[in-house]
Amino acid sequence: MRIIVDADPGIDDALALYYLRAQADTEIVAIGTVHGNVPVHQATANALRLVERLGIDVPVAMGAAKPLAQPLRTAEDVHGHDGLGGHAGAEPKTARSHESAAEQLVNLARRNPGELGLLAIGPLTNVALALQIEPRLPELLGDVVVMGGALNVPGNITSQAEANFWHDPEAADLVLAAGFENLTIVGLDVTMASHAPQEWLDALPQDCYPRRILGFYADFYGSFLGKKGFVPHDPLAAAILVEPGLATYQEDRFAIELTGRYTRGKIVADQRFLAPDSPFGRDIAPERTKVRYATTADHATFLDQLRCAVTQP
Ligand code: RIB
Ligand code: CA
Repeated sequence: MRIIVDADPGIDDALALYYLRAQADTEIVAIGTVHGNVPVHQATANALRLVERLGIDVPVAMGAAKPLAQPLRTAEDVHGHDGLGGHAGAEPKTARSHESAAEQLVNLARRNPGELGLLAIGPLTNVALALQIEPRLPELLGDVVVMGGALNVPGNITSQAEANFWHDPEAADLVLAAGFENLTIVGLDVTMASHAPQEWLDALPQDCYPRRILGFYADFYGSFLGKKGFVPHDPLAAAILVEPGLATYQEDRFAIELTGRYTRGKIVADQRFLAPDSPFGRDIAPERTKVRYATTADHATFLDQLRCAVTQP
């Protein structure tokens, strides 16, 4: 499987790259960066640092610096001032590519119709912009997995909304309305249940880089959850893209709340049972394509896979 990654590295974004690198039949063909955990310039420098560290020779294209319709907000309290737990390290030696992340996504999809997967593990601003450039993008991409949403569980960045969708609700809603038939959403419903305990961290070699960057992230999750360890949101999304059998799904039409005082950024679905001849219409437009939402995942298998991936030299 050949994959484009759109990310806001970001500590768990980094783990997703480690995970993908370790999969024998998977190749990262390009990385796009986006505002989110940190400003996009920092996310881009981190992506360049990570491809150098992981020995992955792929282009890194810088994407959107801010959301479509709200001010920029970032999350250094979760990922550290440098986005990698204070361990970003020296400036990267490699230069980013000349095109934007949205242009890179469109150009690769046009050149490889139906062949490339997309893993979107940051706010969806670049994917929304790519859809403006190329409305046929849903037909030109292969499998798409988005890390985002909190359907039947609480949010993380607000009581209702998950961070990636909250950072750019308009972009997320555009993507959900675009007609992707091969889209899978991996939300907090499954990622929070994949919590990696402190013992998982303690079993990592002392000197491995993922253990170093996870320190800050685990401290945040220790205070956020009241239990040590961390939540591997983005690597679980990567794992589900590569191995869909790791999860189970519900199919539905989804939208993002854009106007709620308390609910802006929340993913919504009309989950009512309505008889076929019911006089009630659905809240969400029937024109929207049904997509898959991950409801359960094989956390033990995933966490074992992730441990192997992050300890590979
Ligand atoms: O809510 C978790 C998501 O927000 C992850 O992608 C994490 O990296 C942050 O971007
Ligand atoms: Ca991310």
